[in-house]
Amino acid sequence: MRLGLIGFGNIAVTLLGQLAETIDAPLECLTVLCLPEFAGETTARLAGEFAGVATEVAVVTEAPALLSHRPQLVIECAGHMAVATHVPTVLRASVDVVVVSIGALSDESLEKELRLAAADGRAHLILPAGAVGGIDLLAALGAAGGLEVRYRGSKPPLAWSGTPAEAAIDLGALTEAEIFFTGTAREAARQFPKNANVAATLALAGAGFEATHVELVADPAAPGNVHEYSVVSPLAKYSMRIENLPSAGNAKTSVSTVYSVLREIRNRIGPVAI
Ligand SMILES: NC(=O)c1ccc[n+]([C@@H]2O[C@H](COP(=O)([O-])OP(=O)(O)OC[C@H]3O[C@@H](n4cnc5c(N)ncnc54)[C@H](O)[C@@H]3O)[C@@H](O)[C@H]2O)c1
Repeated sequence: MRLGLIGFGNIAVTLLGQLAETIDAPLECLTVLCLPEFAGETTARLAGEFAGVATEVAVVTEAPALLSHRPQLVIECAGHMAVATHVPTVLRASVDVVVVSIGALSDESLEKELRLAAADGRAHLILPAGAVGGIDLLAALGAAGGLEVRYRGSKPPLAWSGTPAEAAIDLGALTEAEIFFTGTAREAARQFPKNANVAATLALAGAGFEATHVELVADPAAPGNVHEYSVVSPLAKYSMRIENLPSAGNAKTSVSTVYSVLREIRNRIGPVAI
């Protein structure tokens, strides 16, 4: 496979480590699009710890240069700005893109632009399950309409530092769980952009940003990032609770997210997709 990566942070690096361990043969080509200031360091790391992941390796800083290496699939794992700057160009060039920074799609105009670019390029905008599960069932039930989706995201209090939760409650003094936000997935993404990925994934798969109900909780007893949601539809009801471990390189990112991206690649390389 000829693979493109946008971003070379925690998810990209962990993903490459897992790819090196799990694929039978090196990728035909790996092209990494990074910020210009990190091009030298990225080139050195690819030649060092990741030598052997791909037969041909390139580091670029712009989407046209990424496309010149003819990727068959591009994974975005860089952030909202990178989605807006690079992903429409890649989709318009008929290359499928897995967007990991799904929270970016809570911006209505960017969501529209991405859908249009995918349609124009006859490419797929692929939204992986990321840190949650059960997205297959939610998206399937969504087609029948009439969904009620309620999501609750809990983290230890200090994991909410640097967000508007700080103004709502005294994070350092909490002794029991406290809900500091209730509202729609759209509002949650607007106020807590760095924690928007799961609410956005549920909204896009199911009832949409306005009809997905979100609660955010600071919980001293939370064992890590805990995602719980319930779905009521005319066809089925289910609920989920996922306790994710943080990844070694970035405590904000659940390590299962990386495995969800790995699955997207393996399903395209291997003989069976599941
Ligand atoms: N879908 C999910 O469930 C889920 C879960 C966790 C994280 N995420 C998202 O995945 C993304 C990456 O997470 P991470 O833990 O790897 O973050 P990270 O901060 O470790 O890495 C991001 C990398 O992208 C690079 N970058 C930033 N802007 C760029 C640009 N314009 N062009 C090229 N590179 C750029 C940065 O230099 C950095 O190396 C974040 O947006 C995060 O919100 C999604």
